[in-house]
Amino acid sequence: MTAPVRGDAVVVPVSLGPRSYDIVIGRGVIATLGARIAELRPAAKAFIVSDKNVAAHAMAAARSALTRANVATSEMVVAPGESSKSYPVLQQLCEAILDAQIERGDLIVALGGGVIGDLAGFAAAVVRRGLDYVQVPTTLLAQVDSSVGGKTAIDSRHGKNLIGAFHQPILVVADTALLDTLPEREFRAGYAELVKYGLLGDARFFSWLEAHWRDIFGASSPHNSAREHAVAVACRAKAAIVGRDERETGERALLNLGHTFGHALEAAYGFSDRLLHGEAIAIGMVLAFEFSARRGLIAAAEAERVKRHFGEVGLPTSPSAIGGPLPGVERVMELIGQDKKVKRGMLTFILVRAIGSAVIETGVQEREVREFLNEKLARR
Ligand SMILES: NC(=O)c1ccc[n+]([C@@H]2O[C@H](COP(=O)([O-])OP(=O)(O)OC[C@H]3O[C@@H](n4cnc5c(N)ncnc54)[C@H](O)[C@@H]3O)[C@@H](O)[C@H]2O)c1
Ligand SMILES: [Zn+2]
Repeated sequence: MTAPVRGDAVVVPVSLGPRSYDIVIGRGVIATLGARIAELRPAAKAFIVSDKNVAAHAMAAARSALTRANVATSEMVVAPGESSKSYPVLQQLCEAILDAQIERGDLIVALGGGVIGDLAGFAAAVVRRGLDYVQVPTTLLAQVDSSVGGKTAIDSRHGKNLIGAFHQPILVVADTALLDTLPEREFRAGYAELVKYGLLGDARFFSWLEAHWRDIFGASSPHNSAREHAVAVACRAKAAIVGRDERETGERALLNLGHTFGHALEAAYGFSDRLLHGEAIAIGMVLAFEFSARRGLIAAAEAERVKRHFGEVGLPTSPSAIGGPLPGVERVMELIGQDKKVKRGMLTFILVRAIGSAVIETGVQEREVREFLNEKLARR
């Protein structure tokens, strides 16, 4: 029998009955990947999916961790970027998995950011009607958000993430040292998702982030485990919500705080490098707070506090920070409408009653949103 794997790792359980799994967080934990997989699925082969950027930094470590535990590997490396969440790349990947003779009982390892997690997770959901998979998230966004919860998808010409499945991984191994090579702009964008957990449900965590964000951005060390702590808090929060509402019939929607405005802005800029997802939702969260203040749900000072923090970290806090011509209000309204179900002129938004207390509001009038955006998208 393989000895149980221990070490400095923090283990966060995701409780979903027979689909339960652990999230293992820590500096260097990728070295335990093979032993953990061998313990969960003795004699399984692993097919590693990664992108070119990630593979350059992390493929060797993943492969050697697996080989050391006698897990046979094969791999495919795709082009970096959202364009890999597509039918053609999915097709190549599924065929490559079959070429490698991956059977039921073997597994897929998604080594990368949210793009790889979504693509490889979806391939795992459909090849041979469902293979197990392991998430090895390599971006901050993926470690605190996309690798947990089992949403997998590729994009359609009708919109992002429209072709997908709920398919939970059997293990998540989040090695915080892998984030050392992440471009700073990507790290900062992922940080916005981290702040989201404080804003939607944990005021103390938000205060902690205000005090310690610099330690998270700095490389962790025996004297600085702020990054590991932050990833663990976020994963615990997401695990709790997903554990209660796996398929987003209710509470899981709170995780979309800032995403209605954010997605509309991202779409308005064509999901380009002009505005990364995390940057868009930083603006989106500020807008959600300002909109909540406008509706009298919270004091304007609370919205200011949120805006100040994102600003301090270097994230954009208003549409005018994006640069270049702003999208028109009608265009943004149209994009919000595509993203959301509009019922008799009413929209659903995630609003806030305080820092740390988000609510699902189903009765937001289109007219109110339009007036609000008229102010926010006005040229200065
Ligand atoms: N499934 C979910 O629940 C969920 C949640 C949020 C977002 N998403 C999806 O996640 C995607 C965005 O994920 P992302 O922000 O991680 O983007 P990404 O996967 O494109 O990674 C961002 C960039 O960083 C590079 N990179 C990744 N890890 C690196 C590392 N350790 N060192 C150096 N470079 C590295 C990548 O090659 C890429 O160029 C979107 O497609 C979004 O729809 C999914
Ligand atoms: Zn997001």
